[in-house]
Amino acid sequence: MRGVVLAGGLGSRLYPLTKVTNKHLLPLYDKPMIYYPIETLTNAGIDEVLVVTGGNNAGDFLRLLGNGKEFGLKRIHYAYQEGEGGIAEALGFAEAFAEGQSICVVLGDNIIEKNIIDAVNAYKVQGGGARILLKEVPDPQRFGVPAIEGGKVVRIEEKPKDPKSRYAVTGIYMYDTGVFDIIHDLKPSERGELEITDVNNTYIEAGTLEWSVLDGWWTDAGTIESLLGAGNLVARTGANKLS
Ligand code: G1P
Repeated sequence: MRGVVLAGGLGSRLYPLTKVTNKHLLPLYDKPMIYYPIETLTNAGIDEVLVVTGGNNAGDFLRLLGNGKEFGLKRIHYAYQEGEGGIAEALGFAEAFAEGQSICVVLGDNIIEKNIIDAVNAYKVQGGGARILLKEVPDPQRFGVPAIEGGKVVRIEEKPKDPKSRYAVTGIYMYDTGVFDIIHDLKPSERGELEITDVNNTYIEAGTLEWSVLDGWWTDAGTIESLLGAGNLVARTGANKLS
């Protein structure tokens, strides 16, 4: 399995912090934000990672991460997304990198307390399709939200006004190589982006999407409030713990 960290976007919800740099390079407690999703992958035994970035500061990722040795990576690749085509478009850049292997995708602003080892092992047993990680949250309407019937996720709604469960779909996803055909066939949403929720709903329709609940706290860090909250969580408990 190979890893993909999606670290593009304009970070407009963090303006002016993101006026001269990329969101994922901002400090989150004592490390640049992108260190956390990379560690999420390496903790799960993944040592080949693609970083997809964009915007004006893409060169800074190379300066910061170099050849990935500091993280114990066997190799690190970089891809560049022009414009604001959405999470699923960014993921499409991983097709050549995946070379037929399954991928574990982590959004660059998703920070976790523990690790995803159980979910990665469950995905290996599952043998294909997709696996998403869910987490109960107090404010599901901020996220993708699953409707669950009889233990199966039957639909995911993006930022629903009337959430069908108390779970958020976290920004950690596992896919087989079929994901790239799905992305090729996607149509842009109302906001003009290729949506990861549409990718997941395609797997649901095919009956090949499974889910795990993430252990420990989970947060995004893409708004001023959540960036501060994430920093405080990391300061209090640490992140990416192995047990
Ligand atoms: C994205 C996804 C959403 C998911 C969230 C997790 O939203 O579209 O389904 O719940 O990441 O962080 P965004 O934060 O890009 O609005």
